[in-house]
Amino acid sequence: MAKRRRGGRGELREVPAQLRDRVRPPVGIVLGTPAEVAHLVRALDLAEPATCYQMDLFPAERLRDELGEVVRVVTAADLWDLPPDFQTLIYLPARSGERELKLDMVEQAFHVLRPHGQLLVWSPYQMDGFFPAALKKVFGRVHSYFTGSDTVLACHRDGERPRRRHEVTFQVRVAGGASCRFLSRPGVFSYGRFDDGARALMESVTIGTGERVLDLGCGCGTNGVFASQRTGPEGHIAFADSNLRAVALAEHNARANGVTSFEAVATTRVEGLPEGTFDVVLANPPYYSQGAIARLFVERGRKMLAPGGRFYLVTKQPNEVGAVVAEEFGSLEAEERRGYVILSS
Ligand SMILES: C[S@@+](CC[C@H](N)C(=O)[O-])C[C@H]1O[C@@H](n2cnc3c(N)ncnc32)[C@H](O)[C@@H]1O
Repeated sequence: MAKRRRGGRGELREVPAQLRDRVRPPVGIVLGTPAEVAHLVRALDLAEPATCYQMDLFPAERLRDELGEVVRVVTAADLWDLPPDFQTLIYLPARSGERELKLDMVEQAFHVLRPHGQLLVWSPYQMDGFFPAALKKVFGRVHSYFTGSDTVLACHRDGERPRRRHEVTFQVRVAGGASCRFLSRPGVFSYGRFDDGARALMESVTIGTGERVLDLGCGCGTNGVFASQRTGPEGHIAFADSNLRAVALAEHNARANGVTSFEAVATTRVEGLPEGTFDVVLANPPYYSQGAIARLFVERGRKMLAPGGRFYLVTKQPNEVGAVVAEEFGSLEAEERRGYVILSS
């Protein structure tokens, strides 16, 4: 029996017969780390390529590199934007992942299954306390198969149901500026609230009228929108993120908050924007990936700046990232605020 590695914990798990025996083509695989998806695809050994749905370009690129023609990797802000043509969808939820994203994926999976198509959730938990109720709510009936170490949950699409969007709007003001409303959705940082690190960053930065600002790793676009309050309509804001849902939200939030001159780019290596043209780069990098993304933001952020441009990065790990900033820029300033450190150069 094939084995697969579960992200984060490092252990290998068998692909259970309770899952393999239920799979009927056409097959879709929803999220999962590249390593997990690759193990699963190899174990299933399907006659036709499975469609692998990812919301973020980074794991999608790794999957394409690893599996090539064996799969069809599709990226989109929403799973339910795919054609409703799957007989089997296999969802690989992250261990202790975001609850709202799980609910959202269950809801969206329903809408891309063929009539009587089935959703299989391969839960990493021996006794899953979350999915039985969540699936029952959307699909009506759910069967749980216990494999000894984890659980396979199976349910079928029966009939129609209206699409239910999972989203939360929040309202924030920063540093005495006008209040802004932001739409947020599961899977995009930070769902339903303005991040404290982002607030510390936006209280600390200096941005002038007419400047060009890059919001690097923009999430739902809060920082770029607040930056535009200071640049005014003569300025320009670029939003960049590897997560397609984040880019769609940043575009929406920029428009909804009256940002007139902006662009939004989906990219994993900060490409697709003119290098050497920005006056300010803002970054609040994620903590996963052992600092690799923070390093990428620093290195590519510097390339994006015009001569004399300013780079700002907020972190709770100032020593590691600070060394990278100092090495790349040859200078470093640090300010403590709200339990975070804002590095600038
Ligand atoms: C901590 S969140 C910050 C979001 C937002 N800027 C804020 O301050 O609330 C980091 C963001 O970086 C994005 N990201 C991660 N890797 C990336 C990459 N290689 N290229 C672009 N964005 C990336 C994530 O999708 C996420 O939206």
